[in-house]
Amino acid sequence: MPPVTKLSVPPAQETVRPVDPCTVVIFGGSGDLARRRLIPALYNLLLDGLLPPTYAVIGLGRKPMSDEAYRATLREGVVKFSRQALDDQKWAAFSQHIYYLPGENESQDTYATLKSRAESIERQSGLPGNRIFYLSIPPSSFAAVCEGLAGAGLAAPPSASGPYSRIIVEKPVGRDLASAKEINAVTGRVFDESQIFRIDHYLGKETVQNLMVVRFANSIFEPIWNHKYIDHVQITVSEAEGVGSRATYYEEAGALRDMVQNHILQLLCLVAMEPPYSLDPDVVRNAKMEVLRCLRPIAGKDVERYTVRAQYAAGRAHGTDVPGYRREPGVSPNSTTETYVALKCFVENWRWSGVPFYLRTGKALPHRASEVAVQFKDIPQILFNANAQQPQPPNVLALRIQPEEGLSLRIVSRVPGTRAQTNPVEMDFQYSDVFGRPSPEAYERLLLDVMAGDASRFMRRDAVEASWAWITNILDGWRDHGSRWLPEYQAGTWGPVEADRLIEEDHRTWRTL
Ligand code: BG6
Repeated sequence: MPPVTKLSVPPAQETVRPVDPCTVVIFGGSGDLARRRLIPALYNLLLDGLLPPTYAVIGLGRKPMSDEAYRATLREGVVKFSRQALDDQKWAAFSQHIYYLPGENESQDTYATLKSRAESIERQSGLPGNRIFYLSIPPSSFAAVCEGLAGAGLAAPPSASGPYSRIIVEKPVGRDLASAKEINAVTGRVFDESQIFRIDHYLGKETVQNLMVVRFANSIFEPIWNHKYIDHVQITVSEAEGVGSRATYYEEAGALRDMVQNHILQLLCLVAMEPPYSLDPDVVRNAKMEVLRCLRPIAGKDVERYTVRAQYAAGRAHGTDVPGYRREPGVSPNSTTETYVALKCFVENWRWSGVPFYLRTGKALPHRASEVAVQFKDIPQILFNANAQQPQPPNVLALRIQPEEGLSLRIVSRVPGTRAQTNPVEMDFQYSDVFGRPSPEAYERLLLDVMAGDASRFMRRDAVEASWAWITNILDGWRDHGSRWLPEYQAGTWGPVEADRLIEEDHRTWRTL
């Protein structure tokens, strides 16, 4: 639908604080994340002039490989996954800062070699010894890496004057509350909380950041952002892809752990939080933490009433046949891992009293689309809403996270002409139309945040544990009270009928995306 609004856009005024020169060490450096996301993100930061004047990247992995061979595999990743096209000259200069070190995470030798290699690179490049350790490895190796770094003297404590050491922890930070606490304890024994950056890449997405701006930089929303005016909130993260090549990980995770525990609960926090009194990272994180504390637990038999989980069955999506989940390579034919989950939950505080939050996410759905939709209450049944057979559609504020990042507000308007007719219209704003430039990828922003030491967009220890506590109740409920079989939905459709029932029994429907 064409936008009905035209916004005038002032010239971009972005002030990005320059960051200090540093060395980024990637554990799991020969893995998928480095190739698909991390190196392309660093490369784009370079193209945008945001990397410090000197820097080094050291990838650590099991496979023996030369620096040259490593750079060649990363180059392919950049060609395929970079937001901005590869420029040969710029790549040549950038890749000279990338090194590879083969080694086992569990071996002490790795850390002694890493130390001498890092020091020699830093000496040659004039780097001050600021180090960022990126843990893109299974959590079972976190302890070995943290202890290895400490043993080799690579985990310097925070200091006001000396170089910094920071650690980035990739998900999954655990698979339930107990394992999350264990990981936090392991990292916490070596690093101070101020040095630990637990990444949730959704927090680096443009529209996710915009949630706070929409709420707190406009005067019209805050007065109506509560149970008096809002009927319910829907948060959807839909993925078109099936499990792909990640069956080993996904079989152990499932949609609830993979998407809800982190990304979707973070979105919920941003929608539901009280206005923080400042933008200080801890003040914002305290406000989000309160939402997690107020989430009504879904435990025991309640899982049957408030949750739906399902698996995709064979189907057709985007013109290709998709096998059922249990027939995907690497998936057990008896798997009970959910690839779809829908939940109804409540934030039990004054603001949100009685307002349901419906959450859903799944793989092999019709297309990739994520949004937060705030649906306002119906208007009274008088005037333009007097016909009970044809009620006016309610106002909806929808924040599209991806694709086509933007925001739309549905209002009812008069149809021009002689008849008294009304129609809903969307006031639509799309980032790419209005600002005319693509948004940086989440990892670009988040890596830059770590270099700047800004933790606002990272998960604090207490928040990780609070969200796992809530999720673990559901997991336990499924284990103790869930049915032995999971409902199925055909790949390429919007999920199981049970999910429709979950919302329809409240006389509401899922939005069409
Ligand atoms: C990851 C999940 O955290 O997020 C994946 O592990 C999922 O299963 C991905 O596909 C989705 O991220 P995005 O940015 O593509 O929405």
